[in-house]
Amino acid sequence: MKHSAEKATNAVIILAAGKGTRMKSSLPKVMHKVAGKPMVMHVLETASSLETVENIVVLGEGMEEAQALVNPSAKVVIQTERLGTGHAVKETLPQLASLSKKPDYVFVLYGDTPLVKEETLKAMAAKAAEGAELVVLGFRPGDPAEYGRLITDKNERLTGIVEFKEANAEQKAINLCNSGVMLVRYEALTALLPKVKNENSKGEYYLTDLVALCVDAGHECAYVEADADEVLGVNDRSQLAEVEAILQQRLRKRAMAGGATLIAPETVFFSSDTVLGQDVIVHPFVVFGGGVSIGASVEIKSHSHIEGANIADNVVVGPYARLRPGTDLGKGSKIGNFVEIKKANIKAGAKVNHLSYVGDADVGENANIGAGVITCNYDGVNKYRTHIGKEAFIGSNTALVAPVSVGNGALVAAGSTITEDVGDGDLAIARSRQVIKDKAARLLKRIRRKH
Ligand code: UD1
Ligand code: MG
Repeated sequence: MKHSAEKATNAVIILAAGKGTRMKSSLPKVMHKVAGKPMVMHVLETASSLETVENIVVLGEGMEEAQALVNPSAKVVIQTERLGTGHAVKETLPQLASLSKKPDYVFVLYGDTPLVKEETLKAMAAKAAEGAELVVLGFRPGDPAEYGRLITDKNERLTGIVEFKEANAEQKAINLCNSGVMLVRYEALTALLPKVKNENSKGEYYLTDLVALCVDAGHECAYVEADADEVLGVNDRSQLAEVEAILQQRLRKRAMAGGATLIAPETVFFSSDTVLGQDVIVHPFVVFGGGVSIGASVEIKSHSHIEGANIADNVVVGPYARLRPGTDLGKGSKIGNFVEIKKANIKAGAKVNHLSYVGDADVGENANIGAGVITCNYDGVNKYRTHIGKEAFIGSNTALVAPVSVGNGALVAAGSTITEDVGDGDLAIARSRQVIKDKAARLLKRIRRKH
């Protein structure tokens, strides 16, 4: 039977009921982040790229946080007893049956296997469109360990999956393994899943038994092969780090393919949502936290840490800059070394070049913030804003005690502590006057005599 790939509709089931004991964590395993995003969200986003009619995430009890996170984009089914992958999928059948329009196909993915690519799922869908009732994603790991083995006939058609615990020596020698990702026609799933038994060494309902049942029912089953890297599952913190490393590699390649220069790519760390414009140059040792969007021709110098920041074209940041959430940098602005910015609007052409903290502030166009300027935004209880007008000049080592505003074109003398508003074009000097006395020689003589 051939099915048109264009017209086929898909539902996705993501298995994520496992607690992940080996993670030794208070968080459910799938809530652990890679590239700043919980694993289950990576899987859900990849799944959503298939324009699914329904996404279902199977969670265990007590995973409220995960439930809240996936809820807007997926239905949650709670599997109270973990009786195996077949049982987990069976628990979702009532939800699928309640859909007014049933999907043609159902994808089963794992919440702890976040690197599976959209194109791979599409290759599986294409296999199904060629006539396969069930498609498994296989891979050839360096060490097949305890993975389920794919059994094929002489025509390379999939005839079954044998779990490691049930496999004989000959089957254990097969290195084509089951990643766990499966695509199955909805009708076959609903007809055959109730037939899966738990009479095996683990006493679990194996989803993998579906393959042999499908073949017995006269359907064709097939497999698609993925790179071992792509189907790496996370069971412990070491594997979490491995997955992170692979994803970082991908994100670096994506940034470079998009027209950014990474001088030492292996030292730059991205979030999955980092957006870089063309001709951005990222120097070695830069970290991008979540929510960063950068325009064209921006230069990020070494050792900068950036999160929750919007950066317009032609900005220069760092070295050693820290941009915290709520940072908005206008065109051509400049943030220099040892400067921290938080919840601040730095308008076009403004400069904060050295050793400053600018938080809860607006800095007007072309204003110049001298070295060591601090916005004192916090009184121990509340936060207050500082407004600095365009073309204003704030002398070095000024403390701006918020709430306070400095007008357009105003000048604040170095070393001032500003507690009252400064009007447009005004000069404010708020420091004690310097005193000069002709006494140095006498004083020094007296001091030195004491020793
Ligand atoms: C499964 C496959 C095996 C495959 C391997 C790949 C079966 C029977 N075996 O084995 O062929 O090589 O994955 O990693 O499917 N889960 C639930 N509810 C359950 C059981 C599992 O949600 O009742 C979830 C787990 O959280 C996990 C995934 O399903 O994310 C796989 O379960 P796991 O117990 O790790 O299966 P394996 O024995 O590794
Ligand atoms: Mg497993």
